[in-house]
Amino acid sequence: MLDRVENLKSQVEATALTTKEEAETFRLQYLSKKGAITELFKAFRDVPAQEKKAFGAALNTLKTLAEDKHKEALESLDNSQAVGVNGDLTRPGTPYELGAIHPINAIRDEIVDIFKRIGFNISTGPEIEDDWHNFSALNFPEEHPARDMQDTFFVQRNPDWALRTHTSSVQVRAMESAQPPIRTISPGRVFRNEAISARSHCIFHQIEGLYIDKGVSFADLKQVLMYFAQEFFGKAKIRMRPSYFPFTEPSAEVDVYWGLENEIDYKITKGTGWLEVMGCGMVDPNVLKASGIDPEVYTGYAFGMGIERIAMNRYQIPDIRLFTENDKRFLEQFKTGL
Ligand code: DAH
Repeated sequence: MLDRVENLKSQVEATALTTKEEAETFRLQYLSKKGAITELFKAFRDVPAQEKKAFGAALNTLKTLAEDKHKEALESLDNSQAVGVNGDLTRPGTPYELGAIHPINAIRDEIVDIFKRIGFNISTGPEIEDDWHNFSALNFPEEHPARDMQDTFFVQRNPDWALRTHTSSVQVRAMESAQPPIRTISPGRVFRNEAISARSHCIFHQIEGLYIDKGVSFADLKQVLMYFAQEFFGKAKIRMRPSYFPFTEPSAEVDVYWGLENEIDYKITKGTGWLEVMGCGMVDPNVLKASGIDPEVYTGYAFGMGIERIAMNRYQIPDIRLFTENDKRFLEQFKTGL
């Protein structure tokens, strides 16, 4: 009988357990209800009394040996799979899914960078704005239609507050908090109480520019806008059409000459060859005064543009609602690199 124990012991010792399948076969073969070691325990009854002690001890040692071997094999197989020590190091890793920069942010950053290069800093203001910064200081007359309920989201509990309708409000804040020279651009979100359609949204983004110093002229404004048109659109030719804004005098709309060479050019420029990109002008003396700057000493220019429109043109996006729908299929198209 002891021979059988010895035999099994050398078999157990000789078995290599390198996979989970092998460990399971081992368990079934030796340790399960019908396994060889369990069977020997059943034979214990028939062992002569004087041999029982030695047989029992040898059998217990064998059982512990087999159990330990099985347990250790399972543990080391688990660990090796976790840290890849014995795993397949040539297997491809789990790939990261890269996100994309939102087109509105990409355009904003590009424009901000262009102005940073010529000394503009960045300023921001609150999205919930008071009447003073959004309208009054910007020379909007009391009865001006832009203050109308139709355009502005007022804060119900306090009608002096509203969601800012443009980033021009940051101009006023910049002038209130610093003396010239002031050279700043203010990107941000703006709100208008308008019906949502393919071309217009009640939430959109603008970038405002402001330069105040001694002797700033309309020629300086034109020069900086030509630089911007060249850097951003790669186009050297611009035109300025007379326009009206309460906070600038004179005021102008700026068009960039896009060209009319193919069907897309026709579509983008509505057949004119010119692309409308922003409003601008010389800061009205009333605005300087309201913001604490002496219009007898300083002059300045301001400009403002809508980011959505520029992004729609750049990427040929047909519907402004796509920017806020968070459709992954849309956003994934703006992945860059890798
Ligand atoms: N605030 C104007 C708008 O929302 C844009 C604008 C026009 C800003 C002319 C300016 C400017 O600074 O000079 O339509």
